Amino acid sequence: MNDRHLSDLLAFLRYPSVSTDPARKEDVARCAAWLAGKLESIGLQAATYPTPGHPIVVARNAHRADRRTVLIYGHYDVQPVDEPELLEGETPDPNRHWMTSPFEPALRDGVIYGRGAADNKGQLFSHVCGVSEMLEGSRELPVNLVFLVEGEEEIGSVNFGAFLHAHREELRCDIIAVSDTGMIAPGVPTFTYGLRGIAAAELRVTGAASDLHSGIYGGAVGNPATCVARLVASLHHADGRIAVAGFYDDVTPLAEWERAAWSRLPLTDADLQRVTGAPDLVGEAGYSALERVWARPTAEVNGIGGGFQGVGSKTVIPREAFAKLTFRLVADQHPAGVFAKVKAHFETHCPRGVRLEVKQGHGGEPYLTSPNLPAGLAAQNALRRAFPGREVALIREGGSIPIVATFRQVLGVETLLLGLALPDCRAHAPNENFPVENFEAGIRLNRALLEELAQK
Ligand code: BES
Ligand code: ZN
Repeated sequence: MNDRHLSDLLAFLRYPSVSTDPARKEDVARCAAWLAGKLESIGLQAATYPTPGHPIVVARNAHRADRRTVLIYGHYDVQPVDEPELLEGETPDPNRHWMTSPFEPALRDGVIYGRGAADNKGQLFSHVCGVSEMLEGSRELPVNLVFLVEGEEEIGSVNFGAFLHAHREELRCDIIAVSDTGMIAPGVPTFTYGLRGIAAAELRVTGAASDLHSGIYGGAVGNPATCVARLVASLHHADGRIAVAGFYDDVTPLAEWERAAWSRLPLTDADLQRVTGAPDLVGEAGYSALERVWARPTAEVNGIGGGFQGVGSKTVIPREAFAKLTFRLVADQHPAGVFAKVKAHFETHCPRGVRLEVKQGHGGEPYLTSPNLPAGLAAQNALRRAFPGREVALIREGGSIPIVATFRQVLGVETLLLGLALPDCRAHAPNENFPVENFEAGIRLNRALLEELAQK
């Protein structure tokens, strides 16, 4: 491994660019400035654009009319660390605690550990290093290139759509490439042609004016925590199907070829169970686990609360309770339509005696393309060059990158999703990691991709 690439990536990972945390705003901005400086130093022209939230970094080479234009998108923001405090005498558990500090990246057995190592700094940076090597060697790239890197992906790209609209002329391109997804197994080149969308919602149920003594009033007033539990439980039928009226109306069924191809992948439901550590896999009847996460919509509770959370017991009827939900969507569902159905569902299912508020959160459209378009085939050639002798896996992903659908709407171009993270990369969790080997593969992939796309 080129030492400079590695030390630069470690420097990038040291910025605690947590987009959701207002206290980190300066760190996020410093991270953007560092990245812009890096892109300048490899020979591109870079600029940092402020937004009402976090800055956007754009860098480009000198464009020529006779070359294809490739836009590489990524994000430099990361998820919060969110770790329970280590109690006295407790030994750290890698499933709950960081074994090394999240913003002091560590190299252990050829693997880089740190927040953002996989999602998305490590993957993005392999493209930066790939371009840097090509510019160093020939001082030229085979394409017109734009790096477009945002700092709000993990909070729903709140200001990115407006930026894209405002700058759509300068950002005009033939194709977009993104490495912010996964590989199905080590060494298996993976091409992703679908992403789920997302619709976030928050439920707030309020009852009495204050917390009440549950002996004095229990039995006569509504309990907001019970109501939130009932509402959450009303989302699914016993067979795992979602019970919201009309929820599946716009769902495109998965194609027969996908079912057949996915059943032959070197990634099985048993692998999924092993990676998660869950005691069993559950979900919508009639689908394998891979089909459930890649091609079916879901309703998930991300957080739920209300009432007494302290040590011991306290006899109260809480005055309020809440649940934070996200629905993962597949083509051709839309976040606004799904939210309207969900809201109506909660309003008809809410028990009497309490007040219900259903708030809409961020949303993102799903994305589905064909793996067989010319650029898709070029990308698959590039993957074969980066991982010689291995067959390319064609998959969808369960995660969301909402901006990919926006790229299609605003710029009118498709996006190639070329993931480099492994199934056990622990994105969004403690001990997030990215093998140096994958970083190197990403650098090879970048070169092969730009060369292949130059001809398509
Ligand atoms: N890199 C992920 C998206 C992803 C994860 C794609 C796994 C494919 C497989 C991205 O950074 C992410 O976490 N997105 C959020 C989006 C949300 C906050 C709008 C997600 O999927 O939860
Ligand atoms: Zn993420």
